[in-house]
Amino acid sequence: MEKTTSLSIPRIKLGSQGLEVSRLGLGCMSMSGNYGPPKPEPEMIKLIRHAIDTGVTFLDTSDLYGPHINEILIGKAIKGIREKVQVATKFGIRFEVATKFGIRFEDGKRGICGEPAYVRACCEASLKRLDIDCIDLYYVHRIDTQLPIEVTMGELKKLVEEGKIKYIGLSEACASTIRRAHAVHPITAVQMEWSLWTRDLEEEVVPTCRELGIGIVPYSPLGRGFFSAGAKLIESLPEDDFRKSFPRFKPENFEHNKQVFEKLSLMAARKGCTPSQLALAWILHQGDDVCPIPGTTKINNFNANVGALSVILTAEDMKELESYASGDVVRAEAFEVLLAHLTNSICFSGGISAKLEGISSGLWQPLIKCVSIRGNDSSDASHLDIPKLTIHKFQELKECDISKAPISAASTSNPLR
Ligand SMILES: NC(=O)c1ccc[n+]([C@@H]2O[C@H](COP(=O)([O-])OP(=O)(O)OC[C@H]3O[C@@H](n4cnc5c(N)ncnc54)[C@H](OP(=O)(O)O)[C@@H]3O)[C@@H](O)[C@H]2O)c1
Repeated sequence: MEKTTSLSIPRIKLGSQGLEVSRLGLGCMSMSGNYGPPKPEPEMIKLIRHAIDTGVTFLDTSDLYGPHINEILIGKAIKGIREKVQVATKFGIRFEVATKFGIRFEDGKRGICGEPAYVRACCEASLKRLDIDCIDLYYVHRIDTQLPIEVTMGELKKLVEEGKIKYIGLSEACASTIRRAHAVHPITAVQMEWSLWTRDLEEEVVPTCRELGIGIVPYSPLGRGFFSAGAKLIESLPEDDFRKSFPRFKPENFEHNKQVFEKLSLMAARKGCTPSQLALAWILHQGDDVCPIPGTTKINNFNANVGALSVILTAEDMKELESYASGDVVRAEAFEVLLAHLTNSICFSGGISAKLEGISSGLWQPLIKCVSIRGNDSSDASHLDIPKLTIHKFQELKECDISKAPISAASTSNPLR
């Protein structure tokens, strides 16, 4: 059973600087790869135009998606109707051969960069690909922890003053970074993964955003498709779908995790909607300062996602839903959280353990071991109390300047507890 809606899509204010967007956005990433091969351009243009005609005008992309081709796709799709849409794009993750801007990366490896010259070059390149004069919302995709956030923000502020971007956002940033960035120039939105099974941001990030009047944009609100299809999703993933490597989707964890979808489906039947509508309704009920951006490549699925706006949940429904996917129910949570935060700080290109071994600071050694054990790679993390790891501690580690971290930190105390 699927809820449909013929209502016009409500509009909300995101942040306190005047950005107005549709109540629901459209995540465009998978149109250009990541989840299987890129989809045919004419079909994706049709989908984007359909979304805009329906009233979903907040489009989410990044220079990373494709890479680059997703921005080009959006540029083509909004030609002639630019004033109707709010374009959000991102910079900060790079993977070309790069020795420019004083940053050294190995060939083909990705890196995080927030250097002013890089920020400006990315913005100019995105404007060209999108074929627009001004980006509505420009996010730092990942925080460059080798550089004070104030430096990156200084350049973004100049871009606002020059009219190249209207509003500034951060993606995957912790509370203290959000505060520091906001002190340089108001942040309009913070984009983080937020769904029934990814809720760590509720501890610090959400309250900080609310205190500072910053909007929240949950990415992967459908659990990357898991809340739409459960076990069927895993069975149908093509070889080149990067979700295959997610610990939550690995066979040993998935057997356990699929119960979350089963419970969701039962409740959806009771509420007269689909499981994905229920998962989206849960996030929509978090408040009017929250604008989820479900991703899809299909008009039918897009329409179903819009139908989530008509699903009404009571406080009891919300509690029940939350109990299905609480921390101790979902397997591989700790690893995913850890991985997300490591990739926030460090170059990543697949072999994350190998990459980490290049880092000399003793502070990171327990993390390396922890990654290994959770990734079923090697072992020796038995002394770590993994269930007690908190996001807070990861954030602290992530924020520290690893080049200056005391070598003794890991040997004198376990920073993960
Ligand atoms: N800031 C970041 O670091 C970051 C990271 C990841 C994603 N994002 C952004 O967030 C957006 C959304 O995240 P996401 O794509 O990772 O995950 P998601 O929105 O949780 O799920 C997308 C998946 O769900 C499927 N789906 C969507 N609606 C459906 C429906 N009604 N019925 C059945 N299946 C449905 C899609 O398949 P179909 O295509 O077949 O519909 C796709 O496989 C991305 O497009 C991107 O813009 C940002």
